[in-house]
Amino acid sequence: MANQWFETVAIAQQRAKKRLPSSSYGAIVAGAEAGITMRDNTSAFDELGFRPVTAGQPAERQMDTTIMGQPSSMPVMISPTGAQAIHPDGEVGVARAAANRGIPMGLSSFASMPIEDVIEVNGQTFFQIYWAGDKDSMVARMERAKAAGAVGMILTLDWSFSHGRDWGSPQIPQSFTIKELLPQVPAVIRKPRFMWSWIKSGSIPKLGVPNFVTDGSKPPVFFEAYGAWMMTPPPTWEDVAWLRSQWDGEFMVKGVVRADEARRAVDAGVTAISVSNHGGNNVDSAPASVRVLPEIAAAVGDDIQVVMDGGIRRGSDVVKALCLGADAVLIGRAYLWGLAANGTAGVENVLDVIRGGIDATMRGIGVGSIHDLTADHVIVPDGFSPPRIR
Ligand SMILES: Cc1cc2nc3c(=O)[nH]c(=O)nc-3n(C[C@H](O)[C@H](O)[C@H](O)COP(=O)(O)O)c2cc1C
Repeated sequence: MANQWFETVAIAQQRAKKRLPSSSYGAIVAGAEAGITMRDNTSAFDELGFRPVTAGQPAERQMDTTIMGQPSSMPVMISPTGAQAIHPDGEVGVARAAANRGIPMGLSSFASMPIEDVIEVNGQTFFQIYWAGDKDSMVARMERAKAAGAVGMILTLDWSFSHGRDWGSPQIPQSFTIKELLPQVPAVIRKPRFMWSWIKSGSIPKLGVPNFVTDGSKPPVFFEAYGAWMMTPPPTWEDVAWLRSQWDGEFMVKGVVRADEARRAVDAGVTAISVSNHGGNNVDSAPASVRVLPEIAAAVGDDIQVVMDGGIRRGSDVVKALCLGADAVLIGRAYLWGLAANGTAGVENVLDVIRGGIDATMRGIGVGSIHDLTADHVIVPDGFSPPRIR
């Protein structure tokens, strides 16, 4: 078999596109409306520059750190995503790759595999929940996660049910009925490697949402769970404080893009926030996460950990984010491309690419530890960040 190793995340994406049926590839491209924010998440990183040193670089670079109380071999964590039935290895494969490379895992409440199976391969797993259903059901989901051994909670709030995409949303089957599967046939038969990976695994793509139930009943299909979430009125900051009080330990709010709300999150008692726009899946035209990161990092200081996600495709992006105030980053599509391209090994490959990029960048700019990175190490053009909202 040909060497499946890839040297950049961009190549992993090309392979994912080649390998996946168009509907599955479209599902991980995602993005809302015109994709303005999705594109800005990556292009904003391109606007940031470095000025390398010529001699005297540190011979060794240190990048291990702690993310929400968990030791991590680099300032990178798996962001929760709900689309991992793109490969038979799925969430368990991603969690195993993360464990093999010494980084924590975020598991989506829309994951296709049960949290218990994921924690078995990676004890550093955070469970992500949405504000969905009644309060008792939310607490029950958190209790299941606690019993399974989750090391912390991620409450994701940056989703506003914006469904339209200018390039069209993929049709995802909800069950293995002839009616649901028939429209997929033309796309799937053109992807023999995808079909072969499932045949080899002896399983079929998992279409249920097993972490939504807490009583051992049959998991809902994706759109049943999605409907329950959509019908739930959005939370107030008092609700956030209440949910946080139901969890004893590390608790992140994911999806903060304003300094004033970062302070509200601190007041609600969270231990971390992620500066995030859900990978460009919230309100389109929101700024790239990295553009608002500096004002948010300044607003919360050392009160809580600030991580960011959106647009990380290489190690130098991680370094740029750390220079602008992030303690660590979460990655989404980057590892999904790796998973689609080569399962667990593909995710490990992506993590190695990112680690190599962090190391090379630090060497190039002459910094020996990620904890020594500051805003002085990055060139920020005028007008990079939007005016601050007070
Ligand atoms: C296909 C897809 C599914 C996602 N599902 C979830 C999810 O279930 N829960 C969540 O908190 N975030 C979800 N996200 C957002 C990611 O956690 C993360 O914020 C985003 O992917 C970061 O941007 P990046 O993909 O450019 O790295 C999803 C993103 C994508 C692209």
